[in-house]
Amino acid sequence: MPADTTDIPPSPSPAKKKIGITEEGWLTDCWYLAAMSNELVAGKHLNREILGQPVLLGRSGDGKAFALRDICPHRLVPLSSGKQIDTDGTPTIECPYHGWRFGTNDGVCKHMPSLTPEDKTEPSRVKVRKYPLHEANGAVYIYVSHNPRFDGEPELAPPDFGQLPDAPSFVIVEDFNAHMDDAVVGLMDPAHVPFVHNQWWWRPPSSGFKIKQKPFEPRTRGWAIARHKPSGNSKLYSMVFGDEVTTEIVFQLPGMRWEVVENEKARFFTLTCLTPQQEKSTRVTQITWIENAPLLKLASPIVKRMGRTFLLQDKEMVDLQNRGMKYQKAMLWIDDIDVQAKWYQQLKREWAASRTEKRDFTNPIQARTLSWRS
Ligand code: FES
Ligand SMILES: [Fe+2]
Repeated sequence: MPADTTDIPPSPSPAKKKIGITEEGWLTDCWYLAAMSNELVAGKHLNREILGQPVLLGRSGDGKAFALRDICPHRLVPLSSGKQIDTDGTPTIECPYHGWRFGTNDGVCKHMPSLTPEDKTEPSRVKVRKYPLHEANGAVYIYVSHNPRFDGEPELAPPDFGQLPDAPSFVIVEDFNAHMDDAVVGLMDPAHVPFVHNQWWWRPPSSGFKIKQKPFEPRTRGWAIARHKPSGNSKLYSMVFGDEVTTEIVFQLPGMRWEVVENEKARFFTLTCLTPQQEKSTRVTQITWIENAPLLKLASPIVKRMGRTFLLQDKEMVDLQNRGMKYQKAMLWIDDIDVQAKWYQQLKREWAASRTEKRDFTNPIQARTLSWRS
């Protein structure tokens, strides 16, 4: 029987290359936390893996932080194994193998020692990837474009959390053995608290379950639990801050979540930043700034230990989850406890779509009250 050509579906158009998301599912054209300011010492540098790529993070002698791809384009030696050196008044980093020198500010090669005056090779035509960098309040963020050759001002403004002290009071860092998505979803999950964080000083099992109802609203590239009075299990907050205390929790792509507890004069600001390293490795950095709360500042070491306990408990759950993920990918998400996880996925899809289609990002989230027992 001759085939009815009209029934033949049109051949699929070649899969459109997606911009704004990598094959590993990491968002690009975003700012990620790369390091803390005090990790970058003048004249020194270090190596990190960010979105699966080697990144050299350093600070030149003049105090300026910089981020370059940590691979020498010549024979692929990590530039971070070299040393910083001045080249005609410009800070450069010298590859340890054949001494090519790259400007820390622009990634452009300034010097190839082997060249004779007759050589035609033009060093300045060789360049390593340079990441736009933003340093504020003791934190260093880099902009990861989908285009490794991107060289300019990012369209997206760097993270801005308003007025904060110059340096955080304390920082907690933990590498989770999880994909960025699973780490994000694990940290925003409201229903695990009574089971995972049930230590006596926070939420002893005897405290029982209560119905929680929280009004959520869309925010810039994310959502927020609108400003409210902290709930019962945060008596600690009221103890330190007095009665007039309010709190606000915000999530923003690509993976930043912050919680503000404040009254008229004091402020306790905790920012959690997730930075993808490898497919199954995500760095979780929790940065706390304390303003005008001397009592809390004094208690910082204790609060830090408490925060660490929380993070390690979450990390342990992720490790357990990995045992199941070895055999199965699909999860079963229910309302309302997994709504935030669904929002996160929606936001990511919209981010990638808006980049690919070269249009503005439209927040897909609708204001809504979520309820659960915890
Ligand atoms: S490998 Fe870097 S200069 Fe040759
Ligand atoms: Fe948790």
